[in-house]
Amino acid sequence: MSSETFAPEADARLRAEAAEIISRYPQARSALLPMLHLVQSEDGFVSPRGITLCADILGLTRAEVSAVATFYSQYKRHPNGEYTVGVCTNALCAVMGGDIIFEKVSEHLGVGHDETTVDGKITLEQVECNAACDYAPVVMVNWEFFDNQTPASTIALVDQITAGEPVQPTRGASTVGTFKEISHVLAGFEDGRADEGVGAGDATLLGLRLARENDWQAPGARRGRREDADGGPAGDTAAAGEGAGTATGGADVTGAEAAGKAPVGDTQSSADRKPTTEADVSAETVDKDVKKEAE
Ligand code: FES
Repeated sequence: MSSETFAPEADARLRAEAAEIISRYPQARSALLPMLHLVQSEDGFVSPRGITLCADILGLTRAEVSAVATFYSQYKRHPNGEYTVGVCTNALCAVMGGDIIFEKVSEHLGVGHDETTVDGKITLEQVECNAACDYAPVVMVNWEFFDNQTPASTIALVDQITAGEPVQPTRGASTVGTFKEISHVLAGFEDGRADEGVGAGDATLLGLRLARENDWQAPGARRGRREDADGGPAGDTAAAGEGAGTATGGADVTGAEAAGKAPVGDTQSSADRKPTTEADVSAETVDKDVKKEAE
């Protein structure tokens, strides 16, 4: 990959795919983000020749393309490993063990954040929250979920990857594509695996299950406001609505109504309240008041 331009076959293929991406947007330049993934699917990172190609196709300068590519951490500026192993060290995962997982795996692989093992198999990263906090601590391999990890399970995971063995995510697709394959998906070309496996696991659905078992509903929920995926009333809204006067689960709504207040979320509820004091509109006022009290 030392050449500054793509070979004719790759160039033609990339331009054809770029044209398909561009056709999805009202303005061509809006296609830059997926096109950068497309470049990564070819070179394994946003290469200089990839930047040139994007700039050429979209009529941008190389500086403009680089400015976008350097803004997002999913775009790699140096060759990435075949698998990105991302350990979430954001707040919740960190306190649940994410920090120690990263430390142990880093020690085990002999690489730090955004570094790649000498065999080119794994790029290790500390990643931000992946919206899977209910399964903390979470590890991602090429953006597939590995939930409820420990240092030992993650070390076993990276050992499997290093040995070239397939690894199975906890949720979602049943296998993990390579970094280049996943980059092609992120460029907008489906690999047919989007519906594989379970998306929302038990931990995600626990609150919903409890709400249904107890006839709880969100404040402001009204009969027939929406329907759930089964085609029936959401969370048995109609039934719960009918029993709202007596059911404990309906206390939020009925309590507010009984007190003559609009439920939260409705017009004139607390969510809709007009500012009435200075503190409602100025944090500075609050600070001043706090300081005054302290004096
Ligand atoms: S903090 Fe790790 S997934 Fe949210």
